This record gives sequence, structure tokens and C-alpha cells, in this order.
Amino acid sequence: MFHKVNAIIFINCKLFFISIIMWLLCVIMIFASMKFNKPTFLKVHLLVFLCFILVMHIPVFAQNQLFNKSKNIQNHSFSNYHIVRPYKLDLELDINMQDEYIHGIAIYHLKWNRDLKKVDLSKATIRTSNGVVSGLVNQTNDKIILDTKGLIIESVYGLNGVLNWKYGDSTEIFGKALEISSPSYDTIIQIHYRTWNKTETKRNPNFISAIQWLNPSQTHDKKHPFMFSQSQAILARTWLPCMDVPAVKFTYNAVVNYPSELNVVMSAQKFADIPSFLKVYPNKNGEFRYFIKRKLSNNHSDSHRDNLNNPNPSNLSNLSNLTKRIYFHQSLPITSYLMAIAVGDFQSKKLGENCLVYAEPGLLEKAAYEFADLPKMIDSASALYGKYAWKEYNVLVLPPSFPFGGMENPVVTFATPTIITGDRSLVSLLAHELAHSWSGNLVTNETWNDFWLNEGFTVYFESRIMEKIYGKDYADMLTVLGLGELKKTMADLMQTAPADTRLKLSLNGRNPDDGLTDIAYEKGRFFLLWCEQQLGRKQWDKFLNQYFKKHAFSTSNTEMFVKELNQFCSANQKNLKINLDDFSLNVKQWVYGIGFPTMQFGNAASGGPVESTGQTLMPLIKSTFLDQAQKIARVVNGINKDHGDCVGVPEMVNLYTKNWTTHHFLHFLRNLDSLSFANMQFLDSKFGFSKTENSEIAFDWFQLCIKSRYAVAYPDLANFLKKVGRRKFALPLYESLIEVCRTKGQKVDDLNKIPECELAFNTYEIARSGYHSVTQNSIDALFQIDSWTK
Ligand code: BES
Ligand code: ZN
Repeated sequence: MFHKVNAIIFINCKLFFISIIMWLLCVIMIFASMKFNKPTFLKVHLLVFLCFILVMHIPVFAQNQLFNKSKNIQNHSFSNYHIVRPYKLDLELDINMQDEYIHGIAIYHLKWNRDLKKVDLSKATIRTSNGVVSGLVNQTNDKIILDTKGLIIESVYGLNGVLNWKYGDSTEIFGKALEISSPSYDTIIQIHYRTWNKTETKRNPNFISAIQWLNPSQTHDKKHPFMFSQSQAILARTWLPCMDVPAVKFTYNAVVNYPSELNVVMSAQKFADIPSFLKVYPNKNGEFRYFIKRKLSNNHSDSHRDNLNNPNPSNLSNLSNLTKRIYFHQSLPITSYLMAIAVGDFQSKKLGENCLVYAEPGLLEKAAYEFADLPKMIDSASALYGKYAWKEYNVLVLPPSFPFGGMENPVVTFATPTIITGDRSLVSLLAHELAHSWSGNLVTNETWNDFWLNEGFTVYFESRIMEKIYGKDYADMLTVLGLGELKKTMADLMQTAPADTRLKLSLNGRNPDDGLTDIAYEKGRFFLLWCEQQLGRKQWDKFLNQYFKKHAFSTSNTEMFVKELNQFCSANQKNLKINLDDFSLNVKQWVYGIGFPTMQFGNAASGGPVESTGQTLMPLIKSTFLDQAQKIARVVNGINKDHGDCVGVPEMVNLYTKNWTTHHFLHFLRNLDSLSFANMQFLDSKFGFSKTENSEIAFDWFQLCIKSRYAVAYPDLANFLKKVGRRKFALPLYESLIEVCRTKGQKVDDLNKIPECELAFNTYEIARSGYHSVTQNSIDALFQIDSWTK
């Protein structure tokens, strides 16, 4: 931000001087033409110069526009969290499944930054924890600015009654700033709002919302509607006005009114009745009076709002027989992206102490079988990096349109049903979401530029959990598969956006979703694995334990991590076998370097030159499990190339695939080149890939089908795409289909004659409305045919 401002001022100054010179030239011309008495000459010159000056100023206006637009967005949020912060939220939600909207009352308990109350903010600069200087241009210090997107604000109240509010800046990605005036620096504010309903959302087909509303046919049991949220990264603002930035943490209580035939979970502990500790909550300072009284009276039209001098009671109706009410309490501070809710026909089954699985009744037993190792995972994780903080660990299995594999919502991870295979082969995803209970939920990335701190740590941690439970070979096998994915992503990004191959990202002004690549996950994991190898596991674990403890319930950023790691190494030098200068140089290379890191040496501290040996820093991990699958894939590729038909392939495959597991097949399929029709037909008839229930195998198989133009499998591919809305599967499959059309370079009118194109268009037309808007939005971009020619 700071640099941008400076750069713009610099550009403006330069243009300003140029225009002064132009004006001077103009004046000289006028004098010259008067002296030589040539009026036409004068007019023409004047006109040319005026046009020139006008054109010269266009970039200045454009820059100012840019500046104005971005001036109040910091870290993807409009909120003024340097001035005022919520530390607690009391929330009441009415879930309307029929009209598909949420009506909410959000009560924020606020702490003002005392030092800033009296400061003239137009002149102030603030130093944040990572040393960034943020000019708070045009922000007054008696305002509370929250993020919203697609919300209808009904009214806002402070301790003394109604507060004035208005919408401030807005952008397509970040939504609208909600600016609430609070001249008396209210410590509690109350916002009545609702989300767009079904009709309003339909009017905005490109609107990306956290909430997906599903009709019964989109669920497993096909009996009841379902709704769920996906707030990460910046979608909490689409169902809750909030400071939607990971640097802000708050605790919350919630009352949810929902249809009585359904069930509800939130990212908090659930209580059927008002939790007793809330009843005895002190009644001082106005805190909780509203909340408790409202619940005790159970009557929406009475005077409970008078506590906040609310002259205009909201129009919540009394609870009817059709509505149930339930309470949630999250006693630990969390950030907005971890706010979560799901309502649907699901039941629970106990897996262990404080550990449940929720799923629709028809899927519950299968889910419970699949996730049976969860209690072991919790124990293993706690033994590694400290006590599990969140009291319960539950998993909710969502319908297949859930756009991610898993989402680490505290107390209840949301998971895709596509990991339920019957053989527990994809449960590392749960180890991943569980690991976020430490890396992400306890210690949170301060900004989305530090996203690798959340995901890289979590993939590393996931691997340690898997190793503890299933052994080193199994964990290494998953690491090798991860490396394969990283290599592909790296090759891609080095072509299209090399700066995005850095761990520390620069996503300012962009959608933080852009950072959701294997770089954060896999390059992050390999960096931490490298650290482990440098320090030795014992010292490394000691560091990690300290790190988690130090930043628990708070945030951390890349610079803090690097600094503390270097400090730890110098303090423990006697236990380590590393050269500190080289170590810290290479850490820098990992974090800020582009591409795969190579070894650096030299004495940067004393200003000496830094050189690279060119040798990779990537830890070498081998998997004997996968080696065999890779070898067979190579042989099949060779035979296929030489003969193009079945000769030799069935013999090889029949002989060597007898005891193969899911991961062998994944590695095998990923290493196959395009195959002949006969070989594809053989593989499909032998293994039934086109109809497999294992989504990971299905995905890799369908990719091979597109590569091999094996159209026989296209109807099954279409069914897969119509059923599964997980972006990790849907997006690359549409991409591959469309890539075929693009490379064929046909005219738009002819596209439907290409089978892959026809499949992509026809399938998406039907499937789109069933996808979550996050998936829709990513795939929509692919179908902008105009951009294909570029
Ligand atoms: N928190 C992420 C999902 C996420 C990240 C959603 C950023 C939106 C923005 C979650 O923990 C995750 O990483 N899920 C992965 C699974 C994992 C095993 C790699 C997924 O959904 O594929
Ligand atoms: Zn994750």
C-alpha cells in the first residue's frame, strides 16, 4: 500500500512537471505567433497543445481512480481494525430454508484503540506487527467499518440507540464497506440484517456467496433441503457483516432458529438449552443482558431490545411449532473465515471421546466406518504439538456439491462425501483438517499473503500424523504423490505467473483464492521438511512446539516465522549441525525465491556476494510402493507407443497389479501417456475405472480418457461432473476438455462438433446450477470463449 501510494505520487509529480513544461511552451508559442502576427498558426498550435495536455492527464485520472478504489482496502478487507476491534460476537440467526435466506442480528462487543481515539487520522500512520506502515487516509476514528457482500442492512444500534450508517467503498471482489458512525465510541453495537433471498440471488447470477442452498434432490437421501457455508477466504462477509480479515479474532455465541425437522451445526459447541455458564454470566456493563434475557424470555416481541434502547424491534416472528432453537458457544477466539453453519437432515454417531461424525441417515454408517481412525489421529496430533484446544472434534459429511475436500471449521470439520470409498484410503484429508486445529485455527496466517503458514504447516503436520498411525512408508508415499502435483503446478505457474511460486505471496488487490495452489501446500510442506532435516527432528519439534504455544489464539506472519526460526537456531547452535549464515540464506531462498529453491552460500550478513551452487534444496523422498506403479506405467507407455494396441499390456498389468491400493492406481494413472483405444478399453474392463466410487481414481482416469480421446467413457465423465462439485476435480476436468477445443483452433460455430467441446458445454449447462458459487465462478472463466484466442 505504502509503495503504491508513493509510486502514484511519483507518477503524478512527473506528469505535473511535464504539463508545466507544456504550458510554458504554449505561452512561448502564443508570444511567438503574436510577434509574427500569424493567428491561424496560433490557433492550431494552441489546439494541438491543449489536446496533448488533456491526453497527458488521462493516466493521472486513471491512477487517482485506482488509488481511490484501493485506498481503504488492506489485506482484502475494508475494516478499520487498527482503530476498533470486535472481541466477542453474539449472534441470532433465523434460517429460512424455503426462501433461502438468513435473517440475523449480530451484536459485536468492541474494544477501541485508545491511542487512536484522539489522533487526527488523516495525518496518522500506524505500524502493524509486521512493520507495515498503513496510512489511514480518510478514516475517521469514530467509525466502525465492517465488510459486507450481498447483505441487506436493516438497522444498526449502539448503546444509546440508533446509529447512522452508510455504505462506503465497494468493489466486485471485496463487496461493500459498511460504515457505522459511533460518536460515543460504543462498546456494543447491534446490526439487524439479512442475506439476499432466492429471488435476489437469482437476479445476480455471478454473485459468489459462502452459502449454498440445496434442494432435496442434491442431497444423499433426497428427502430434505440442505444449506452450508464456506467462508474461507473472504466469504464470511456474504452472510455476516464482519471484519473479514484473519488478523481479527473473536469469540462467539449464537442462537439459531431453524426448521424443526432438520439439524444444525456451527463452528462452536452446541447446547440444546441455554448453557448454564451463560445464565450466570455477570450482568454488568450491559454485556450479555440482551442475549440472556432474549433467550430466557423466549419471546421476540417483548422489551429485551430496550436494553440497547432499540426503538424499532425487528420483525422476527415468534417461534412456531415448525421452528426449533439451539445454542452455540465458541469460547476460543477465531477469525471470520472460520465462522460456519450447516443445516440439513443429518444425524450423528460417536466415534470416540468428544468425537462425532455427522451425516445424512443413509450415509451415516458408511461415514462412521470410513472415519473410525479419527480418535487415534487426535491422540497422535496432540502428542506431537500440544493438547487439542477445541474441546470436541467432529466431522460433518456434506452433499457432493461442497466445493472443497475439507474445511477446518473449529469443532466441526466440513468434508466432501467423495472421500468415502469404503476402504479408508482417502482419510489423510481428515488428518489434514484436524492438523489445522493447530496450524490455522490456533495460529492463524495474519494475511492471505502468508497463506502458506496455514497450509504448508498443515500438510507437513498431516504427514506426521499419518506417519504415526500408518507408518513411514505410507506417509512417504503420500509425500511423493504431493511432489508429483507440485511439479505440475510449478511448471504451469513458471509460465503464467512466476511470482506466485513464492511462498510469501503478494495478493494485494487480488482475490486471495489466487493463492490457493500447490505452492502454499506442497512447496510449504517441502520447506518445512527441509527445516526438519537441517535441525534434526528433535530440535525441530521443540521449535514447533514453542512456536504453536507462543502464537496460540493469535496470528503469525512469514517474517515472524523466519525471525523466530533463525533466533531459535542461534540460541540452540550447540545442538545443531548447521552453518547459521547459510541456513538463514537458504530459508530466505525458500520463502521469497521463485520456483524450486537452489542452494545458496556466501556471507550476506557482511555484505558479501551470495552465490548459488545450482543444487536443489528439495528433500529427496522415495516411495518403494509407488516405484513399482511408476515402472509399470513406463512399460505400458513403451508398449503402447511401439504397438498401439493390447499386445503385452494385459500380461504386464495382470501380473503386477494384484495387491495394488488406491495410491498405486493414482500414481500409475498419473504416469500414463495417452493410450490406444484398445489399451484404454482393456484397463477399463479390468478395473472398472469409469464407474469407480473412488473419486480420486475416477478423476485421474477421466483425465487420461480426455488425453487419450477415449470417448466411450465420456457419458460416465459427464455423470461424474454432474454429481461432484468439488472444485479440485471439476475445474481441471473442464479445463482439459476445453484445452482440446482450444488447441484445435476451430471457429466458434464449429466447436460443438468436437466431442470434448460438446461434452464440456452440454455438461456444464446442466451441472452449473448444482455447483457452489465458488466452483461456478472458477469454471465460468473457462467458458469465456473470447479469451481463448489470446
Ligand atoms: N482450508 C482449506 C480449504 C480452503 C483454503 C478453502 C483456502 C478456501 C480457501 C482446507 O484445509 C484444505 O486445504 N482442503 C483441501 C484438502 C487437503 C487434504 C489438501 C481440499 O479441499 O482439497
Ligand atoms: Zn488445508
